This record gives sequence, C-alpha cells and structure tokens, in this order.
Amino acid sequence: MRIEKFEEIESTNEYMKLKSEAEEWDVVYAVLQTKGRGRNGKRWVSNEGGAWFTTVIKENKAVSMSEYVKLPMIIGAALLNTLNTLGINSCKIKWPNDIYVNDKKVCGILVEKSGENFIVGIGINVNIEKFDKEVENIATSLFIESNKKYKIEEIIISTVENIKNYYEIFLRGGWIGIIEIILKNDWLKGKNVDIISGSSIDNGVVKGINKNGEIEIVVSEKLKTYCSGEISIKNIKI
Ligand code: BTN
Repeated sequence: MRIEKFEEIESTNEYMKLKSEAEEWDVVYAVLQTKGRGRNGKRWVSNEGGAWFTTVIKENKAVSMSEYVKLPMIIGAALLNTLNTLGINSCKIKWPNDIYVNDKKVCGILVEKSGENFIVGIGINVNIEKFDKEVENIATSLFIESNKKYKIEEIIISTVENIKNYYEIFLRGGWIGIIEIILKNDWLKGKNVDIISGSSIDNGVVKGINKNGEIEIVVSEKLKTYCSGEISIKNIKI
C-alpha cells in the first residue's frame, strides 16, 4: 500500500483520477480538502479533523459491471467493520453505503469510475468536535460518539485493509456473507422516504434490501425495487 499525504488538496478523488500511474490500493489522504465532493454533486465539508482519503480498485475483467454495482455496499460493510473495531458499536448502513451512528451520518463514500479504475473516496468524521449549524443535526463524529480522539492515519490504513479483505471475499464468491451484514444493520428499514429519480419524486416506506443489494420500497401499495445509483433517498422520517 503506497500512501501519499497532503496538508491541503482540492479533492483526493480528483487527484487520484489524474494520477496516471496509480496502482491498485494506492492511498492519498489530506488534512483538509478545499473542494471536497459528495455524491450527487454535493459539497463535502472537509475541515481538519476528518479522514479524507481515496484508494483505487482496478476493474477485474472477470467481474461484470452488473456485479460491480455491489462495490459501494462492499465498501460500506468494510467501513462498518472498521468502526465496530474502534469500539463504535451502534453503526448502521444507510443504503447503499452511508454509515450512521445514533441517526446521524458519520461517514460517506463516493465511488467513481475513471477508465479502468474505481476511485473509492471516503470521508470519516473522526476527531471533529463541533459541526457548522447547517449540518449539526445530521452529522456526527467518532469523537462526539465516544469522547475519544483517534489517530487518523491508522484509521485510514485499517479501513483500506478492511476494504481489501471484503473485496477479496466478494471476488471469491462471498457476496452473501456481505449482504447479510448489510441486512442486519439496515438503517432505512421501516422508514418513510422520498425517492428521487431524475425530476420525479415518489414517496414510500422501505421494506428492506434484497439479496442482490437492491432496495425494496412500498410505493402506493406496490412493491418497487431500485438499484443503487438509480435513485437517491431524501426526507427520511425517523
Ligand atoms: C457522500 O456521502 O456524499 C460521499 C462523501 C465522500 C467524501 C470523500 S472525502 C475524500 C474523497 N474526496 C472527495 O472529494 N470526496 C471523497
């Protein structure tokens, strides 16, 4: 694992995309990002105190793209394991791959495809003591949850090692074990949500996640199934 550190960078994902000689499991991290990006084009606040990092997975030609849809969930399950190992035990996965603790987001994952590389960007709120007003009701950190400070580089290394383990389990045909972890820790199950797909909005109650990793939502008394990447989930009523 080659690790590169920046004091400040625009975005570790953008940096890794442009790194032409990037090897699988290379890691780049930064103390702070000035243009951190989240999913759906959102800004990702990346002040000092978080683990802001990106690693690379090379596309394996033996795996079809329809199987690679599971990658964000494999990474989510690996992160859940990392946080459990750190003693944060009440973590849940918000499908497809955000990690929540006590109903607040502690970690986000942004997987992007660039040529033959999957650019895996992860943001974990580690030692952050206080969030800006606009996010303090929806975000938490490992420090807020445990009252402990953590060594950020150690968390980054153990997370990437965990992702590598889970990905290898997946390549060896172990998806069922991974989806079972996700099903046991499904934060959205039973919640009323808005389902955004392009310009259309539906509302429904989440029934759960099926064995393929698709979410099942009851909309107007009909069961609908959605893949990750196809929709985003908003206005969750807890
Ligand atoms: C999300 O929940 O919307 C995903 C957030 C991903 C943030 C990480 S921080 C490191 C990497 N660099 C970025 O610009 N974004 C990802």
